[in-house]
Amino acid sequence: MGLFLTFEGIEGCGKTTQIRLLADGLRQQGHDVIETREPGGCDIADQIRAVLLDARNNRMISTAELLLYAAARAQHVAEVIQPALDAGKTVLCDRFCDATLAYQGFGRGLDINRIIDLNTYACQGVIPDKTLLLDLPVEIGLGRARQRNGQQAGPNEDRFEQESLDFHQRIRQAYLDLATQEPERFITIDAGGDPQQVAQRIATAMAVTVLP
Ligand code: TMP
Repeated sequence: MGLFLTFEGIEGCGKTTQIRLLADGLRQQGHDVIETREPGGCDIADQIRAVLLDARNNRMISTAELLLYAAARAQHVAEVIQPALDAGKTVLCDRFCDATLAYQGFGRGLDINRIIDLNTYACQGVIPDKTLLLDLPVEIGLGRARQRNGQQAGPNEDRFEQESLDFHQRIRQAYLDLATQEPERFITIDAGGDPQQVAQRIATAMAVTVLP
């Protein structure tokens, strides 16, 4: 069985950059690594992602949103994550079940127990070995995310970035609470500073808690 690592945090916390840097480092150490993300990670889930994040879909009700995230996850786990873990690979995943608890549960106010049930159903027993929470003040994260989106051409993926500051504060706090509730699984990393500094913090934390 391979190693399953997930990355979580508010918008603009730097997950994508850190996953790339960690994947490069792990490959140099001989690990067989795949990088993937949610929502998405395979063709069908990428199609669901496009619907979920399209800023024009602001009429979508929270329940529909939750079910689409769960549907994308079920496909991604079955098609990509489970086979990779069975093949002994190290899977680095940009967001996973905790994002649904934070965003749809604490952000949108949907029932937490129902979300836990849906996550369990979608994941079929696949649970992250470790979850790296990249923590950052909301103002800094959103500033970075807006700068990035302003630079990006193509489909508009900023439906969540249009939410209020208060919404994003709730997401940050939800992640910190989840980390407190599951200290064995979560590693909280200070995501402030430049990417190399953050990468160094992650490498240090991984060396003592995860890698042989
Ligand atoms: P990303 O910006 O990290 O690619 O994530 C896409 C957006 O999807 C982000 O705003 C968080 C949101 N999201 C949820 O609301 N629930 C989920 O379960 C997942 C995986 C992501």
